[in-house]
Amino acid sequence: MRAASPWWASTSIYQVYPRSFVDSNGDGIGDLPGVVSRLDHLVDLGVKALWLSPFFRSPQRDFGYDISDYRDVAPEYGTLDDAQRLIDEAHRRGLAVIFDLVLNHTSDQHPWFVESRASRTNPRADWYVWAEGSRDRRGRPVPPNNWRSELQLPRAWQWSHERQQWYLASFLSFQPDLNWRNPSVRAEMFDMVRMWLGRGVDGFRLDIFGSCMQDAALRDNAPWPTLYAGIPRVQTPNRTLNTDDCFALAGDLRAVCDEFGPDRILLGEVFGPSSVLRRYVSDGGRAGLHLVFLFDFLAARYSATAYRGLIARFERDFPPPMAPTYVLENHDRARSLSRVGGDLRKARVLATLLCTLRGVAVLYQGQEIGMENRYIPLADAKDPMAQTVARHLPEWLNQRLPERLNRDEVRSPMQWTAAPHAGFCPPDVAPWLPTHDNVLQRNVESQVRDPDSLLTWYRTLLALRAEREALREGRLELAADTARHVIRYDRVGEHERIVVVANLGDSLTEMRLGEGATLLAASDPGCGLNNGAVTLPPHTAAVALLG
Ligand code: NOJ
Repeated sequence: MRAASPWWASTSIYQVYPRSFVDSNGDGIGDLPGVVSRLDHLVDLGVKALWLSPFFRSPQRDFGYDISDYRDVAPEYGTLDDAQRLIDEAHRRGLAVIFDLVLNHTSDQHPWFVESRASRTNPRADWYVWAEGSRDRRGRPVPPNNWRSELQLPRAWQWSHERQQWYLASFLSFQPDLNWRNPSVRAEMFDMVRMWLGRGVDGFRLDIFGSCMQDAALRDNAPWPTLYAGIPRVQTPNRTLNTDDCFALAGDLRAVCDEFGPDRILLGEVFGPSSVLRRYVSDGGRAGLHLVFLFDFLAARYSATAYRGLIARFERDFPPPMAPTYVLENHDRARSLSRVGGDLRKARVLATLLCTLRGVAVLYQGQEIGMENRYIPLADAKDPMAQTVARHLPEWLNQRLPERLNRDEVRSPMQWTAAPHAGFCPPDVAPWLPTHDNVLQRNVESQVRDPDSLLTWYRTLLALRAEREALREGRLELAADTARHVIRYDRVGEHERIVVVANLGDSLTEMRLGEGATLLAASDPGCGLNNGAVTLPPHTAAVALLG
């Protein structure tokens, strides 16, 4: 008998953005006790793991992705004891816990950076990436090379008056990059990782991991534009992203993780073609990260052709025992329902694919009830990324932007009930971001009771995934000969074969599945299976057991 694959290869992960999940103490900001109070929602939904965006000490300029103490909890989110209680309470319910590890940069208010910036000779002078650059004819400082930040428009170098040198900031100016070539930085960061593993966390999501180490010789990036997972880049990041040193770092971090046994995992936030990203998982035979996000579904057009192409590519680049990681939305990108024009039929099709494809399914809080982007003009953005973009492109201030740019829009409070502020915080308190005005129809309380809701559909799919060996362990056979607007794949387990069919077109379609096929679940009551043929109305999907 084949050995069952490890838990993480077919897990389902629910991303909690703690600031917007549940406010338990009435300050308008979500917190860790709030997350604990709603863990049963995750259990009832049927996910197997919880990933928490950062809640560590931080000035909160990038809402936790700017850390000033990796070993402590930000007071507005709770205490270290609350973090421990969260780990323990999740485990008691059978949920794995994944924390967010921001290795690329700290806050500029981290004591390490405050010290590093103070002089060129202090004990932490080399804890960050400092460089000389040059001077122009008027004596003004010129950065050492052409590197742009991950935001594309701003450059990646920030000037320090104190040191008369540049420091690297791959993301925002107040997030200086740590110097991973410095053994003291490695030792300190790896110890911090051990501290949390010792407290019981099951793994980490690694924030912009591919930006951790750039070209040591600081050579220019290639100046031609490119596109990664739907995000246009003004230059090709051949010297700044996914360098050989980054792949090696993945292996070193894996070794730290493995000190705690085979069940702790690393999930990389990395960008690039899947054929490159697979090197994070296995680099010349050396094990690295267990999983990497494949972000292309977040940007892909809703179309059978586009999705079929992506599934085929991910199966090719991440064959078993590797596992592709599918994701439809997160705290940085547009809500998936908003991307398909608010059409709930399409959201149900997407849910079907996410929960039945081979590998890992990641859901973002609120996705299960069909939360949509909550429009907030760029001029009002709290999101520092949107503010930076607005500074560089002021002409965009009065326009409705391409969705991905104001991340506030996808961070509106979780919609628990139809009460004021959606039950996120007490009615007399203003939440840190406004709630969506669709809260009357889109909330957990009402959808739990509704057999036709999106939430009920997600629960059905996740229950099926837990029950069916073929959906967890089976290989995936993608049919190449379907009609243009149809996706069909079989999940082939040791003892069963399950077929998933989806009609992404505007007309009804019929497909032969063979005698003996039985319907396990359908996204719409109009789907039917008679005499071995399945009927799918427009924008529906079905899962069937083959005889
Ligand atoms: C990626 C995170 O998902 C995003 O929210 C954050 O702003 C940047 N990394 C910087 O840490």
